[in-house]
Amino acid sequence: MSTMSTMSTMSTTMPTAPAATTWEAPRITPLEFNQLNKFGQRRVRSEAQDHIDGVLVAELVERFGSPLFVTSEKRLRSNIRRLQQAFATRGVAAVHGWSYKTNYTSAICNVLHQEGSWAEVVSRFEYEKARRLGVPGHRILFNGPNKPRAALERAIAEGARLHVDHLDELDLIEAIARERAEVVPIALRLNFATGFTEPWSRFGFNLESGQALEVIARVKASAHLKLVGLHNHIGTFILDPRAYAVQVKILCELMQRIEADGQIKLDYLDIGGGLPSRNALQGVYLPPDQVVPEPEEFTEAICTAFLAGTAYRAERPQLIFESGRAVVDDAQVLITSVVGRKTLPSGAPAAILDAGINLLFTAFWYHHPVRLASPPRGQPRETVLYGPMCMNIDVVRNSVQLPPLEPGDQLVISPVGAYNNTQWMQFIEYRPAVVMIHTDRSVSVIRRAEDLDTMCAHDQLPEHLRNIGSLGD
Ligand SMILES: Cc1ncc(COP(=O)(O)O)c(C=O)c1O
Repeated sequence: MSTMSTMSTMSTTMPTAPAATTWEAPRITPLEFNQLNKFGQRRVRSEAQDHIDGVLVAELVERFGSPLFVTSEKRLRSNIRRLQQAFATRGVAAVHGWSYKTNYTSAICNVLHQEGSWAEVVSRFEYEKARRLGVPGHRILFNGPNKPRAALERAIAEGARLHVDHLDELDLIEAIARERAEVVPIALRLNFATGFTEPWSRFGFNLESGQALEVIARVKASAHLKLVGLHNHIGTFILDPRAYAVQVKILCELMQRIEADGQIKLDYLDIGGGLPSRNALQGVYLPPDQVVPEPEEFTEAICTAFLAGTAYRAERPQLIFESGRAVVDDAQVLITSVVGRKTLPSGAPAAILDAGINLLFTAFWYHHPVRLASPPRGQPRETVLYGPMCMNIDVVRNSVQLPPLEPGDQLVISPVGAYNNTQWMQFIEYRPAVVMIHTDRSVSVIRRAEDLDTMCAHDQLPEHLRNIGSLGD
């Protein structure tokens, strides 16, 4: 209700109120001394963010539309450089294998390949993509439980690093090696408990049960296989660096045991990914700034254990890590626009956005920070953010402090770089463009927005279904 209309019914002689004034419901906000909570943390308020890497959000939307994924080349490069540096300064020249499934947008892969990252792939498609981007076979780490024969044959011929997941795969690789009359180098994926995380026992061979040792013995005895590495991925979003210290210790001890008879020497240990990003994991009460350790705390734990565990050798094996989310998550934001508002029966304000869980799969795991791209119009309130899909579970945030929103308002959601450009759904809506802001602030489209042609590209109409009959008249 406008102040002006209320007053005009009271008296025609009253002076006219300023036209832009609007009435806002009174609200009681508890007084927070200096806004500190009991953990010494300032209460998180959603501050406005009107630019990304120096480019205005409004300008990006005008040029490329909304919703829009925006990638920062600068941040991507600085993230991987920081990690590489964190290993190097601790005396370990670690190799990074870029985990394609985290974000396999070609430009993102190529930024990382330019920075020296190998490719870590988990399927035939990802393998073929890495090869198409120019990554040589010997710089591809081939993980994953489903490696069809044709994919294995190609990977073997191209010298890829095969990380064997299960016995049937081992049999298949051995059979291919026999047919080719070759000795094929392989690494084994292992799983074991570190005491810090739930082991991902569905991948690889279990150490505690003795299965891994049996397989190692079998590989050592094979005329067509050569064991060159060990691989383990302890899980994801690991918040305690000590988990890696235990992991590396276990791998080094196993390596020493394997090498004890002098028959073989391993080339590498691959510790997988799992380093956390600065995202707000659901169920974790404290904000990321307080719970997520710095990358250097992880590399300190890893390198200390690695240097100690490999000290028995004259030449250290190569250390490989496969970080995904820690490299790309905060290098991408999602711009989305308000398409409508609702007041829920509880009285809480809600907004419908043009991006939902179709684009933001990680909304199931994270409370993504959300910022308004324009100055606030009033006091923040607990607001519900819905996506555009006609589906009840399409909720981006169940409750987030935001000032009053209006249709057309742009919101910036971040970090979103990990697992969204790969797990997004082609469901109900077109998927939008992904752009990259380069270090000189120029902007390129790195993935075109979808349109009707994209959506129908794989449909085929049998002859008798080419038209819709009289309904179309
Ligand atoms: C084998 C392997 N390597 C690397 C990763 C990347 O993990 P993160 O994004 O947690 O670093 C994953 C993710 O599940 C994985 O399964």
